[in-house]
Amino acid sequence: MAQKSIGVIMNGATGRMGYRQHLVRSILAIREQGGVELSDGERVQVEPILVGRSEAKLAELAARHGIADYTTDLDAALADPRFEIYADFLVNKARAAAIRKAIAAGKAIYTEKPTAESVDEALELAALAKAAGVKNGVVHDKLYLPGLLKLRRLIDSGFFGRILSVRGEFGYWVFEGDWQPAQRPSWNYRAEDGGGIVVDMFPHWNYVLENLFGAVRSVYARAVTHVPTRVDEVGAPYAATADDAAYAIFELDGGVIAQLNSSWTVRVDRTELVEFQVDGTLGSAVAGLFDCRIQPRNATPRPVWNPDLREEHDYAGDWLTVPQNDAVENGFKTQWEQFIRHVVEDAPHEFDFLAGARGVRLAEAGLESSRTGARVDLPSLSLPVGAAR
Ligand SMILES: NC(=O)c1ccc[n+]([C@@H]2O[C@H](COP(=O)([O-])OP(=O)(O)OC[C@H]3O[C@@H](n4cnc5c(N)ncnc54)[C@H](O)[C@@H]3O)[C@@H](O)[C@H]2O)c1
Repeated sequence: MAQKSIGVIMNGATGRMGYRQHLVRSILAIREQGGVELSDGERVQVEPILVGRSEAKLAELAARHGIADYTTDLDAALADPRFEIYADFLVNKARAAAIRKAIAAGKAIYTEKPTAESVDEALELAALAKAAGVKNGVVHDKLYLPGLLKLRRLIDSGFFGRILSVRGEFGYWVFEGDWQPAQRPSWNYRAEDGGGIVVDMFPHWNYVLENLFGAVRSVYARAVTHVPTRVDEVGAPYAATADDAAYAIFELDGGVIAQLNSSWTVRVDRTELVEFQVDGTLGSAVAGLFDCRIQPRNATPRPVWNPDLREEHDYAGDWLTVPQNDAVENGFKTQWEQFIRHVVEDAPHEFDFLAGARGVRLAEAGLESSRTGARVDLPSLSLPVGAAR
């Protein structure tokens, strides 16, 4: 069978996400399975080139994984016609400049979130990509978490009746870096370096909410820095200038209220690092990364508030586990396969730079709400006038 291939420039392949999720779990896993299957049954193989700032690190990664190409020269990679896709896993601050270059080079672009540091710049990139006619996509990996796929199935089957509310807890304790190394890079805790949990998580919450429950119409948020001093990768103390927790209420199209806590300063008393409780008129569900439990209306217990009696009822025992039923695929790999089909055979792909800009806007609005104390309304977002051709 004829074997096509597509070259992918992987900028930031030495980083946490670039290496683990995008290179190893996605592109190399796709290469290992013989490529992405297209609608006609043919396969397109992937050929990565690693791009970064440290030649030694790139050489080590390339040798470890049998990758032929690597370079510290992004411009040279962008000028090479073997590579049709530019992918960006850089720190937030470095992203927009690199994406501008990729648009100018006519590459299809796939990027981590946030697509830019402000909604204006995110929209400008979306407009530039559209004007240049380059295909573009942004991560939406959380939608493929097994727990959220189960939630999707419940929604599609009508299990909830009318959905009333969503309560989400995301978070865990990120070590301060003094007596145990932190689990996340220190730039995440410096606003001046593009850090902060709102910028990090609200782009995810935007696509999760709009794809499962309805577009976000307003946000009220309080973002705080609970731990003001941390210790970086080389053991030096630094001022944590970015928010490390955010407490937010989102109003969605159709009236659903979503209340999501995001925190790197909470100790886990849940079964998973993220959990969403969805309550509907006909039933409720609690979904995490992997698992999902349900309680239908007609199996709901009858709690009675009585402070004089110790609670004897096993509320956790009232829930039913939703079975897995389907094989679990890595979400990053799934979204890469979708994007490659979009590039190669024009398969539909709704997660574009405009979707990315909506995520950036939610983060910006969340921070504005936190600063002013006011609820911020979010009208529909469109490309700047004159961008569409
Ligand atoms: N989708 C997700 O679930 C998820 C999770 C975490 C992070 N992210 C996103 O992934 C991106 C990378 O985060 P990370 O945790 O992997 O960070 P990281 O610090 O581990 O990696 C960042 C990469 O950028 C490179 N880099 C740093 N400064 C640069 C500069 N000035 N110019 C060029 N390159 C530079 C580094 O060498 C490294 O390769 C961020 O945009 C973050 O928002 C996404």
